[in-house]
Amino acid sequence: MKLAGKTALITGAGSGIGKAIALLFAGEGADIAVNDIDLPSAEKTAEAVKKIGRRAIAIQGDVAEPADVDAMVDRVISDLGGVHILVNNAGIPVHGLLLDTQTVENWDRVVAVILRGTYLCSRRVGKWMVANRTGKIVNISSRAGLVGSPTMASYGAAKAAVINLTRSLALDWGKYNINVNCIAPGLIDTPLTRRTIAKDFPPEVVREVVPLGRMGTAEEVAGAALFLASDDAGYITGVTLPVDGGRLA
Ligand SMILES: NC(=O)c1ccc[n+]([C@@H]2O[C@H](COP(=O)([O-])OP(=O)(O)OC[C@H]3O[C@@H](n4cnc5c(N)ncnc54)[C@H](O)[C@@H]3O)[C@@H](O)[C@H]2O)c1
Repeated sequence: MKLAGKTALITGAGSGIGKAIALLFAGEGADIAVNDIDLPSAEKTAEAVKKIGRRAIAIQGDVAEPADVDAMVDRVISDLGGVHILVNNAGIPVHGLLLDTQTVENWDRVVAVILRGTYLCSRRVGKWMVANRTGKIVNISSRAGLVGSPTMASYGAAKAAVINLTRSLALDWGKYNINVNCIAPGLIDTPLTRRTIAKDFPPEVVREVVPLGRMGTAEEVAGAALFLASDDAGYITGVTLPVDGGRLA
């Protein structure tokens, strides 16, 4: 088991990629703190983790709110004894043109959840990791943070910032034995894509734009997160790993 004796906090783990990461990490021996803004979905993931035989707590909280993040991390440390792994996964998109749906309110909310949330959780958990001279942080960015994507200005800008935040934290915290890495998923079949862009990507279009010819699964992103959260990636820090079926190639 690759994560025996570890505790992991995964944000936005009530659904999709975060949920798949929680279940895979639990199967590898980690105890899991399941955060989501939606408590019932966090509780469902936590129940599934317990069925695997690991400890789990469900914590409702908005990653963009400092008070929520402080209370969440305090609870993880008191209930599970520490936080060896942080996965900054919570994220929301707003689709549309800059002159249309990218309003100030929408812009601020997207940037707050994706960038401020990653900053707040890393800062609070990083305090514990620095004090304990150990830690693995995995940020979930996006292919849209590496290249431009039509109608995704706020999301792409925030995801690009997460990639550079990853590099900065890797430099600052390397001396504390903390690895900070990032994943850039491409088209992944999750509730989010089914709600938003699935209609623009019927199978024939996916075959055309994705070299591997299909959408990815949440479990395939979780596999990359497991690698970066484990000792297998002990000498890797500051990188962004695309999990995109070859689309960036
Ligand atoms: N699905 C894809 O194709 C894809 C591609 C690239 C990147 N991503 C990124 O992967 C991550 C997970 O996406 P997903 O597809 O699993 O989405 P999803 O909508 O299925 O799951 C996201 C979860 O985050 C939670 N959440 C939203 N705002 C939150 C907040 N402020 N605080 C705490 N929790 C919050 C939601 O309630 C939801 O349970 C996101 O950061 C997304 O941007 C997804």
